[in-house]
Amino acid sequence: MNVYDSARMADVLAPSGYRLAAAAAEADLVILNTCHIREKAAEKVYSELGRLRPLQARARAAGRSLMIGVGGCVAQAEGGEMMRRAPFVDLVFGPQAYHRLADMVARAEGGERVQETEFPAESKFDALPAPRGRGPASAFLTVQEGCDKFCTFCVVPYTRGAEQSRPAAEVIAEARALAARGAVEITLLGQNVNAYHGAAPAGGGGEEWSLARLIRALAGIAGVERIRYTTSHPLDMDADLIAAHGDVPALMPQLHLPVQSGSDRVLAAMNRRYGADDYRAVVARLRAARPDIALSSDFIVGFPGETEADFESTLALVREVGFAQAFSFKYSARPGTPAAEAPDQVPEPVKAARLAVLQAELAAQARAFNRAAVGRVLDVLVDGRGRHPAQAAGRTPYLQPVHVACTDESQARGLRGRVVPARISAVHPNSLAGTLAGEGDGAADGPFARPVRA
Ligand code: 5AD
Ligand code: SF4
Repeated sequence: MNVYDSARMADVLAPSGYRLAAAAAEADLVILNTCHIREKAAEKVYSELGRLRPLQARARAAGRSLMIGVGGCVAQAEGGEMMRRAPFVDLVFGPQAYHRLADMVARAEGGERVQETEFPAESKFDALPAPRGRGPASAFLTVQEGCDKFCTFCVVPYTRGAEQSRPAAEVIAEARALAARGAVEITLLGQNVNAYHGAAPAGGGGEEWSLARLIRALAGIAGVERIRYTTSHPLDMDADLIAAHGDVPALMPQLHLPVQSGSDRVLAAMNRRYGADDYRAVVARLRAARPDIALSSDFIVGFPGETEADFESTLALVREVGFAQAFSFKYSARPGTPAAEAPDQVPEPVKAARLAVLQAELAAQARAFNRAAVGRVLDVLVDGRGRHPAQAAGRTPYLQPVHVACTDESQARGLRGRVVPARISAVHPNSLAGTLAGEGDGAADGPFARPVRA
């Protein structure tokens, strides 16, 4: 979502004459769009600011200005504290205020130090300008923001605010505009995206649309061949959304569905409102609808009170479900969240040891999943160039990054924005390698069988 927000910030500033600079040292304005989700991400902001400060001083010495802005959730959470701690920062604004960025920057240009971290009454989406020019083949689209779930470890309900869905008509209009600018794939974004319940379009039947209903409508837009959504909560995987995975061909067979832990005791303490078996049941229903669906997840180890037995339950769930990809983190206490106050914090070395064990298991599963692609023909949406000459880069339906070898540069360039069949030849640490296959080969190979099963 920060990538999406950053792109929209650039759109907002374009009418004021700002364009993207190649490097911070060359810029007139540097905006850090920040994340507050874990301690490490938040700490990085101050170290980045420390790196920018001498650039600002050097620019001033050379007679030009380099303004520094901090946006996003760290700005939202720290607000006034950041203004005090970093007096060289010119503007601080939260994730709900960036539609007013042109005005904020104009005030900062006039010498004012600007702070906008209130939640404004109006929706920023109503005030954002339409982007211009050719856009990416794979585009993000925010449909929902904020969260009302209040997991006890998480800052999102405090930094992004209450859950809000954009009206369906607005989302459809933005998707059409993205498709007109060359988007072939659209990833619907929200902190709790499958809790989406947006106002129905005029004559669209009913008062509110669910995410499944929205996906079915977006699948009808000419040019949109692929749809994804992230991030989902297991509780909000309703029957229609699961069914859509079976009957909407554009809905890609990949889903990020964070489980966090495999222990019922820990899940209850996290206020996740489901048990490990509920998660297993959702996975079973998804696989019944779409047998080749590739699952990814988030895990937290060392949540307060987590015992060795709790951790073993997480490992057991991982081995049973089989994930194509995963993100795993040591629990970090976030100021203002209930779990940060819990008395039974887990010592750092215990967290580190558990994380290493879990990551080894998850990495082995990811490798196995990727290795199963070797020799197969998979459809790749090309959305960029590889690091080497005559190479196109893209993603499989399962979201695996692929480098496709082409005969020459112009062939690689010509593939951009197209879905092409590629025969997968090798697995590298961060991507697959493949060669172009004949049209139609992809369909002939059919989908993956079950990805991983230890
Ligand atoms: N500590 C560690 N990980 C966290 N996450 C969110 N809050 C914390 C925290 N306090 C992780 C969760 C979430 C992902 C985006 O970040 O796994 O799904
Ligand atoms: Fe945070 Fe997700 Fe829980 Fe909401 S559902 S509080 S965003 S972890």
